[in-house]
This record gives sequence, structure tokens and C-alpha cells, in this order.
Amino acid sequence: MQRLNIIPAPARVIKAALVTLAVLLALSSISSGQTEAEKGKKIFQEKSCAACHTIGGGKLAGPDLAGVTERREEEWLKKWLKSPETMLMSDPIAKEMLGVYMIPMPNQGLTDEEIDSLIEFFESEDAAKK
Ligand code: HEC
Repeated sequence: MQRLNIIPAPARVIKAALVTLAVLLALSSISSGQTEAEKGKKIFQEKSCAACHTIGGGKLAGPDLAGVTERREEEWLKKWLKSPETMLMSDPIAKEMLGVYMIPMPNQGLTDEEIDSLIEFFESEDAAKK
């Protein structure tokens, strides 16, 4: 008869642990709940993009990126951010920019995820200015 009291105990412990885990997961996803655009903004600041680019503050070593999602296709931006050196050899728009800015943008070693976040960030900046 003793056993009947003992058996449910582990189940209760497991259930309590699962509930605690679920609560912790919910809390952590709220506190790290950055939007894609916010992630992109952080990457823009941390990856030294801002050393060569402003968004609406004029040219630096590279073009002002205000309106970039309007003048370039998303696919173009993805290819550019993934491998500017390839684009500078093969893409007419990239070649033309190089002729104006005279320095090749260095490859920033971005992951596909970082590239998506950056494009979301540029889109949100462009949308905010309309
Ligand atoms: C050392 C300076 C430098 C850094 C750092 C740099 N860029 Fe550039 N970027 C340029 C230059 C210069 C161009 C113009 C094309 C060329 O000459 O290579 C350019 C072009 C671009 C363009 C295309 C602009 C247009 O009008 O089509 C985008 C988008 C861009 N850069 C995004 C970024 C992002 C995002 C980062 C950071 C992850 C970054 N750049 C870091 C110099 C830089």
C-alpha cells in the first residue's frame, strides 16, 4: 500500500519541472523578442557598416543607404551583401558604384540570417520615411 503514495511523486516532480521550464522559456522569449529589423539594426552597428554608411545622413566612404530597398531588388541586395567582390566583377550596377566610390566594399562575412535581418532593417527605415 505504501507504494501507491510513492509512485505519483516522481510524476508530480516531473510535472512541476516541466511547468517551471515552460514559464522560463516563455519569459526568455519575451525578453529577447527582438524584431528582425531590430536585429538588423544591431548588426549594422556592430559589423562596422556604419563606419562607411549612413542611413539618411549623407555619403561616407560608401553610399547613403536611405532608400536602398527602393532602388535595388531584394535579390540584388542579398547577392551584394553575401559577396560584394563577386558582384563587383560581374554586376553592372555594382561596377558603376565602384566607379563613383572608388573603393570596393569589403566582404563583411555575413550569414544568410544576418543578411535577411539587415534587409528587414533597411526596409523598415525606408517604410518609416514614407
Ligand atoms: C570599408 C567601407 C565599407 C564597409 C565597412 C561597408 N560598406 Fe557597404 N559599401 C561600401 C562602398 C564603397 C559601396 C559602393 C560599391 C563599391 O564601391 O564597392 C557599398 C555599397 C553598399 C550597398 C549598396 C548600396 C546601393 O546604393 O546599392 C549596400 C546595401 C551596403 N554597402 C551595405 C553594407 C552593409 C550592410 C555593411 C555592413 C555589414 C557594409 N555595407 C559595410 C563600403 C563599405
